[in-house]
Formats: sequence, structure tokens, C-alpha cells
Amino acid sequence: MEAPGETKNGYKYARFGNPTRDALESRLARLTSGSEAIAFNSGTAAITTAALTLCDPGDHLVAFDGVYGGTRLLLEDLFRDVLGVEVEYVDARSTETVEEHVRADTALFWMESPTNPLLKLCDISELADVADAHNIPLCVDNTFATPYLQQPLDLGADVVIHSTTKYLNGHSDSTGGAVATNDPAIADRVSTLQEYVFGNALSPFDAYLVLRGTKTLPLRMEQHETNAQAIAEFLVDHPKVQGVHYPGLESHPQHELARQQMDGFGGIVSFELDASEAETRAFIEELEVFTVAVSLGGVESLVDHPWTMSASFISPEERRAAGISDSLVRMPIGIEDSQDLIQDIEQALSLL
Ligand SMILES: Cc1ncc(COP(=O)(O)O)c(C=O)c1O
Repeated sequence: MEAPGETKNGYKYARFGNPTRDALESRLARLTSGSEAIAFNSGTAAITTAALTLCDPGDHLVAFDGVYGGTRLLLEDLFRDVLGVEVEYVDARSTETVEEHVRADTALFWMESPTNPLLKLCDISELADVADAHNIPLCVDNTFATPYLQQPLDLGADVVIHSTTKYLNGHSDSTGGAVATNDPAIADRVSTLQEYVFGNALSPFDAYLVLRGTKTLPLRMEQHETNAQAIAEFLVDHPKVQGVHYPGLESHPQHELARQQMDGFGGIVSFELDASEAETRAFIEELEVFTVAVSLGGVESLVDHPWTMSASFISPEERRAAGISDSLVRMPIGIEDSQDLIQDIEQALSLL
């Protein structure tokens, strides 16, 4: 400060603002077609803060039943159990099903598309019409698609969420999140909660990493997708594979919707093996190029066994109800040579 109460260059304390974070927030706003974006220290922090902005104790919230397990956990532990929000999960692949669950006290639609880990889609513009008709804000977690492949705000969503930990940063060396919107009142409330209640802003160094990561987002996404498409096509014909989830496959039940609302199909493939839990784990351990890890969106290919890893913190019953079996494998595909990746999968499958 120059003098008491007078800030130098508008900055007085890093929790309220920092030039590197501001630069990232401007870029994220442009990337997401938002008027404003707010950067958080995790995707989870972005989700919690946005949902708290849009939902009051006792309200009713309709969520896609395919949302990321961590989102499910926080909707239940905080919103349902502490705040008394009635959280209802529905199969949002059908817009009619979502509309059937609308009530007078419905305060928020919480969607994700494609979902983690089963790559289900919801029709964002149809849902936006329903949301508008009932005056309910629509929030879409766009982490899997990235702004390069999908623009929920342009499709009519009110708020878009990203875990920047994933593709936006792209190098598995930063944890962060973002909320973007065209609604100044929502942005203002989210910022106030961030600055004065949670103090969950992204650090300047992480903001720098994400800024740098976004410079190669288009190149990385193109390569993630080329590889993912090749791997999905390889898996779909393999006798040890029971089902492949990838929106780029013509056999994906929502392939046409993906073509309409996305500019590509993304870099994540998940599939069920014709195998027991132990055999599925053994397959994963045999992989040499893929690293066993729960994250996604970095340049290296990873492999995850959702049953015992990324979805292990929701109960087995909930996992099964969400369609997550013990033979499900999720592969966030990196930017390596696709033949190296396919050969690695082939050799591990041959041991089954
Ligand atoms: C779709 C989706 N949203 C949000 C998150 C949470 O992000 P973070 O791990 O940065 O808190 C994740 C994490 O895997 C995710 O996959």
C-alpha cells in the first residue's frame, strides 16, 4: 500500500487478487465465453463455492446420476447432510427425465458432460431451455470436454466449472479449478465467498502453470483425441473387452449428440473387461506405458481402476447403481504415439 487504505495497482492482499491470477482469470473467461472467470485452488473448491452460491439450505437440487464421485460426495456430505438440501440424482441423458423431477423449490441443475468415468452426455441446450422455463440456474462441469471441445455457456448454461488440474493445466503438476459465468451477480457472490469465507483462491504460481498450459491446449486436445479414438476402435473389436465407452464411437448411444454439441470427443476412454476384479487389476499392473493414477488430462497416459481407485470413496452399492463395475478400466489417454499405447494394451490383454 502507498498509504493507509490506498492500494498500489489495485492489489492489497493475495487472497483478494494477484496480477498472475487476474491474467489467468481473463484468459479463462475468454476461453469459456464467460464475462468473468474465478480461479480456485481445486476443482472441488470451484464446485463447492459455485453450488453454495446457487443453492440455499432446504432447497432441492437435481444432479446427473453420472457425476464425478467427488462431486457426489460433497453434494451428500455438505449439501444434503449439513445444509438439508434435497439432492436428487436423475438420468440426465434424458432431458424429459430431468424436467419430470423439477419442483417449485428446485434451485439448481448440476450437470456434467461427458461424465466421469462413463462418458455419458446430457443435452446442454435442451436442459438450458428447461432451466430457463423454470427459472433454475444450470451449472455444467466441463472438465472432460475442456473449452476447446465444448462451450456450455454458449449452449445456454449459466455457470461452467472446470477442474484446471486436468486438461487446462495439462501437465499433472498443479491442482486448481475455475467457475465461469456471464451473470455478474453470480460472479460477484462466488468471488465474495472465495475471498471472505473460504479463502480458496488459486496461488499465483499455480495460476502461472495453468496460463502456460493453456497455450498448448488445442495441440494437446487434438493428440489426446486422435489417440483416444484409435484406442477405442482397437478395444471395441477385442474379444476380452465387453464394452467401450467413448463418444467418438458410432456405437456410443449418444454419438450424434456428441457430434452436435461438441467439437470433438475428448481423450478419455473407459471399458469393461470380460474379467474378474482380480484379473482386471492384474491387467492394469501389466501395462508398461500407462501409469496407474487417479488423475486425468495430463500429457502422459494413465490408467485407473475406478472400483478401487477414483470411485472407491463412494459405497459399493452407489458405485454399482452408477454403473461402475469392478471390471471397469478408465484410461485418460496422453499424447504419446498411439501405436505404442495400443501395443501396450495388447500385450497386457494377451496375459488375461
Ligand atoms: C469431472 C470432474 N470434476 C471435478 C473434479 C475435481 O477436481 P479437483 O481434483 O481439481 O478438485 C474432478 C476430479 O477428478 C473431475 O473429474
